[in-house]
Amino acid sequence: MTQQYILVCVAWPYANADIHQGNVTGSYLPADIYARFHRLQGNQVLMVSGSDSHGTPVTVKADAEGKTPREVFLYYHQRFLALFQRLGLTYDLFTHTDTENHHQVSRDLFCALLDHGYLYRQVMQQMYSPKARRFLPDRYVEGTCPNCGYTRARGDQCDNCNTLFENASELINPRSRVDDSQLELRDTEHYFLDLPRLAEAGLAAWIQEDKEHWRPQVINFARNLVLNEGLRGRAVTRDLDWGIAVPVEGWEDKVLYVWFEAVIGYLSAAIEWAKNQGQPEAWKKWWYEPQARTYYFIGKDNIPFHAVIWPAELLGAARLYEADPNQRLNLPYDVPANEFMNMEGRKISGSHNWGVWMLDALERHDPDPLRYYLTANMPETKDSDWSWEGYVERNNNELVGNWGNLANRVLNMIQRTFDGRVPDPGVLTAQDQALLAAVDEGFAPIGALYDACKFRMALQEMLALSTRVNQYLEEMSPWLAVKSDKPAAGRALYTALQAINGLKILFAPVLPFTSQALHEMLGEPGPLFGRQIVETYHESRGSHEALTYDASAAVGAWRRTEIPAGRALPKPAPLFKKLDSSVVEEELARLGQRQGDGES
Ligand code: MF3
Ligand code: ZN
Repeated sequence: MTQQYILVCVAWPYANADIHQGNVTGSYLPADIYARFHRLQGNQVLMVSGSDSHGTPVTVKADAEGKTPREVFLYYHQRFLALFQRLGLTYDLFTHTDTENHHQVSRDLFCALLDHGYLYRQVMQQMYSPKARRFLPDRYVEGTCPNCGYTRARGDQCDNCNTLFENASELINPRSRVDDSQLELRDTEHYFLDLPRLAEAGLAAWIQEDKEHWRPQVINFARNLVLNEGLRGRAVTRDLDWGIAVPVEGWEDKVLYVWFEAVIGYLSAAIEWAKNQGQPEAWKKWWYEPQARTYYFIGKDNIPFHAVIWPAELLGAARLYEADPNQRLNLPYDVPANEFMNMEGRKISGSHNWGVWMLDALERHDPDPLRYYLTANMPETKDSDWSWEGYVERNNNELVGNWGNLANRVLNMIQRTFDGRVPDPGVLTAQDQALLAAVDEGFAPIGALYDACKFRMALQEMLALSTRVNQYLEEMSPWLAVKSDKPAAGRALYTALQAINGLKILFAPVLPFTSQALHEMLGEPGPLFGRQIVETYHESRGSHEALTYDASAAVGAWRRTEIPAGRALPKPAPLFKKLDSSVVEEELARLGQRQGDGES
């Protein structure tokens, strides 16, 4: 098969709060599983993202902490880099949106839209603070809700009755949340993305094309927005001083809207990656080759921006940086958005300390059991729930009891009864061959599930195969046979060992750390995957740290290989740890203490 170009685009986390399990299972982990699977397939994978450093989420946090937005976003960016390394998220590049490269690409894309007539100017009314002498974003405005009378409603939403406001001017008696001063409406001019024209220019046709491989909830939502609700122009500039300056003379004190430019990060990060590789054109394989497949791993709250606005921006920018007029930037091949994960039956909340803060959890838990539980409960089709009891249960029954026990039983028995050498099997029986055939035949359907982003189902299939190998072992009972018929015991252990070596690959996208450990216990050379590296890059805005991936030494491939008889195996160690039920109480006791910190 020819190599495919797979672009794995991952949601850019707002650099204003620590990452919880909902973010991880929603987008970062499925993206990593997908990237790892396709790397094992031998495909050309590029996985990119970065910290979303602009916008009011970051400035609100900075104001609350008396820091600059830059200090806030760099603090969280560092924590993201630490988390992603420890969780094994293999970004080819995890950068941020305050690089010169990203500013430049965002300006260029804006100018391309302007040149092609997809941006227009319009005067609108916005809340203005005469005291601070500036326009205030909706989140900074407070007033009385016209619906329920609640006096502390925010400019974008009333937390009492959940009414969403399109403009903060709908509030009665609007005041500034910063200094409580009176606000007034003033005229301000902004650039608008001409979505109706873009719909006609190809967006509507594209959204109606065959999208059988899309999740129904995603494509239905996007089609409804484009075809039924009727698109209106959207303001893509803001009166803020933190962000990317609008690249038009006289507009320097306004910035690009954070959503408008954050999605451009998928393109700018690919370009930055190529520059860092010393091959500045290399990104074009993923962005211009029509056969390349581009995936966007995001949470359901991000669907409009990834399935409608970003495709519109790409369509309007057309052949940015490419001389050939027939070339066009690739539109999303798929947007496998996930639903939400709850925490012990309630919505995850930073301010109520209700969630699993992943960097913190990794102080007490290994990465693979976390990845496993988040995959087994991934909200692929509906909202799901994290429960610590469920975590301990799955860890003990499925990882320790089923898969880990299988691997360790076989390795320990070979250590004890065959002096640590892979036994000579002699001639395999029909039963042995059937077992290995079952593992080999698992690669195609499990691969198809991975490729279709059906990770929960892939995991179930792998676990069923592991159960099957456990059953084989029970039937053969080499621990008994070793006394009466040692060659038969050797044959069974040899066969089970080969089966485990196959399962190791099947599990590897979800369980990369323990698959690698097992790979070494099987005496196999080389790492299955590449290496994560934090690099510092220098450019005109200053230097920045980014997470990168060096694939050069990776040996993993999507197939079962044979472990030769006679090989001396290193001393095995358990792959997983059994967890005591006290873990549940300890973890539950950590919940719900902090107040007034965090964002969502
Ligand atoms: N930072 C935003 C969020 O976390 C947007 C993420 S995806 C982006 O919801 F591409 F738009 F940045
Ligand atoms: Zn209200």
